[in-house]
Formats: sequence, C-alpha cells, structure tokens
Amino acid sequence: MRLKEDIANQLIRARRRSDALTEAVEEADLTRQHSPLMSPLVWDYAHIGNQEELWLVRDVGGREPIRADIDSLYDAFQHPRRDRPSLPLLGPAEARSYVGTVRDKVFDVLDATALEGRRLVDQGFAFGMIVQHEQQHDETMMATHQLRRGAPALSAGPPNPPRDRDLPREVLVPGGTFTMGTDVEPWALDNERPARPVHTQAYWIDTVPVSNADFIAFIDDGGYDDPRWWTPEGWAHRSSSDLNAPLFWRHEGTQWWRRRFGVDEPVPLPEPVQHVCWYEADAYARWAGKRLPTEAEWEKAARWDPATGRSRRYPWGDADPEVRHANLGGAHLQPAPVGSYPDGASPLGVYQLIGDVWEWTASDFTRPPGFVAFPYREYSEVFFGGDYKVLRGGSWAADRSAVRGTFRNWDYPIRRQIFSGFRCARDAADV
Ligand SMILES: [Fe+2]
Repeated sequence: MRLKEDIANQLIRARRRSDALTEAVEEADLTRQHSPLMSPLVWDYAHIGNQEELWLVRDVGGREPIRADIDSLYDAFQHPRRDRPSLPLLGPAEARSYVGTVRDKVFDVLDATALEGRRLVDQGFAFGMIVQHEQQHDETMMATHQLRRGAPALSAGPPNPPRDRDLPREVLVPGGTFTMGTDVEPWALDNERPARPVHTQAYWIDTVPVSNADFIAFIDDGGYDDPRWWTPEGWAHRSSSDLNAPLFWRHEGTQWWRRRFGVDEPVPLPEPVQHVCWYEADAYARWAGKRLPTEAEWEKAARWDPATGRSRRYPWGDADPEVRHANLGGAHLQPAPVGSYPDGASPLGVYQLIGDVWEWTASDFTRPPGFVAFPYREYSEVFFGGDYKVLRGGSWAADRSAVRGTFRNWDYPIRRQIFSGFRCARDAADV
C-alpha cells in the first residue's frame, strides 16, 4: 500500500510541475517553437499524456485507447523536433483535457493493479518509468523556457545551502574494482543494468565542478582560439558555430553577462559553468592539463565506499535525496556555488555529483555488458554507439525521481541548451 501511495504522490508531484511550466506563459507561447532544437511546449505536454496512456492505460491497465488517433503525432521517433510545430497538434485546452482524462484512468489502473507478477509492473516499474519520463520532459521544458525570448515567466530565489570553501582541488580515487550499474534499484532503466565489476586505475578527480571563474580563465587565456586544446571535430565545430563562450553569455566592458530565464545578470563566478557542449568541456580539460573522467570513473567517485567496498545508491548513502543533499527539481533555476551541499558529498569527499549541472564524461553512450533492452528498444538501445556522449549526475532542473548514482543521460557532443557542465580528472601516474 505504501508503494501505491508513493507512486500516486510522485505522479501528482510531476503533474504539478508540468502544469506550472505550461501555465507560466500565454497560450501563443505554448504553441510557438522557441528554438528548432526544442518542441513547442504544448507538444511536450500532450506527449507526456500520450506516453502515459500507451504504457499505463493500455499496456498495464489493458484498457481501451482514449485517443489512438493522435499516437503518431506524439511519437518522438516519427517527427523530429524541428517538424513538430507544423503538425496538427492538440491545442492547449484540448491537451489539458486529454492529459487529465489519461491521469484519471491511471489512478484507476494503479488502484486495480497488483504491483508484482509481471516484470513491467514489478515494484511499480512502469509507473516509475512514466514519472521519470514526465520529469525529464519537465526539465526539457525548462530548457525551452530558458531559450524563450520576451518577458520573464519563471522566477525563484537562489539556492543558499551550507558551503565549504577550503576544499582540496582534487581527490585521489585508488585503483581497483567497484560495482558499476545496478540489479536492485526498482526504477532503474535498462541502460543502468546490470550490476557488474569494473576496474579502474588510480585517478584524481576534481572535488567540485568547473566554475564560471575557472572557465573565464580558459577564455582569457585564449582557449577558444588555440587548436591545441581541441579535438579536430571540436575545432571544426567551434569554427563553424563561432563558439567563444558558453551559450547565453555576452561580454561587455570587463564583465561577462548571461541571460537566465529572461533576466540579464553578471555571470556569478563561484557557480558551476553550464550551457557548454562536450567539445568545450573537453578543450577546457586539455588546457587545464587534465581530461574528462570516464563514465566509470565518475560513477566510482560518486558511489564507491572505501570502508565497505560496496557501491551506494547516491553519493551520500542509500537514502532518497533530500533538500540538504543536492540542488534538484528546478526550485532555484540555477546551480549552487561550488563547494555547496557538504551533506551530499561522496565518501571520498567529492561534492555536487548529483544536482547542479549534468556532467559531461569522456565516454560514448554504449551498451553495458549483459544489457537487455526493457521495456522497449527505443528507450536506450537505438542510441548506443559513437554518436552520443554520456552525462551523469543530474542538473538543478532534474527531479529527484530521475537521478541516481547509476542514472545515465546522453546527448550529442555539440548540444549546450541543456543544463550541462563538467568536472575534470587526471591519471594518478601524472602526479
Ligand atoms: Fe518522451
């Protein structure tokens, strides 16, 4: 019974956020495309409802379709984002009524379904998948809000957690084997599974993410103009796209400014840098005499407990995220200064691994050994290969239901409208 209550609460919490993000702007702003990289907000909103209908109403519940006629409009694989505004989408009022009808039926299904006996529903997996899906689209909608022009629609106070200022710059992670991935996390997605032993050499990893102050030092040193720091692909992209600073930044006099949710403000120096693409992160790391951590190195720094030898669910332990652990859920609309959230540090003393910014890793999004696609190939399997880089940890806009020590995000190495930053690592042999 507790599980069903928890699921119901998580569904309600996700919907509150989707509603707030779509009620914050005028109707015309919901149907407009704010960037070719993003869907109109009303597409995300109805797509959330359509996925919920497909998985929970039809599959788990075995009920009749509500709107089978709109399935193809909201199938992300049939229509790339740039084409979505020209589709005959549901209008805002119709979309609200549709997702409301779906949700009513889902509560019925939740009531009537035993959460065991079938892998799809075991421990509430399908409901958890849909909660995470909605929260992930809410984060995507936050990125659309950030790209949107015009008067500010969202506002929130800055995070103000305790902060440790005199931290060592790096932490040494000893060589050896740790458990990567999971077999037991009930709502973990297929690409996080299975748990398996992974060996790493000893390495140093940055205690905190790279800050705006750090990144400005790279800019001031001519980092964007020196091909030594860039891979050939990165240099070509930097040149063709005229990259010279993180997205949303501009330089005026001696000051860097940024636009954040429609407000111009000086770039805060102690905050983790965000809105950088993988190529920029990779170039910075090389300039700093370091490199990006591999995905395994990131996860070991986040989860491995040297006292017990086991891997934790989160850096701070096995308890679900609380406000004191990490900056999550879009409550603050920005990352917290580096060194914040000492209660969320990992056993080795690495800070802000969960929350604040998604962290680019050196690794391509690949198939874990022993991987089995579940519940559908299009969740992860079709993205495996060399096209996408893995991001770990979760941003300030990610919800606590959709972050874990094992959670994997992926995107193209040129993308930076997402809330992406990074930290660096280096081989221990380079001491
Ligand atoms: Fe989706």
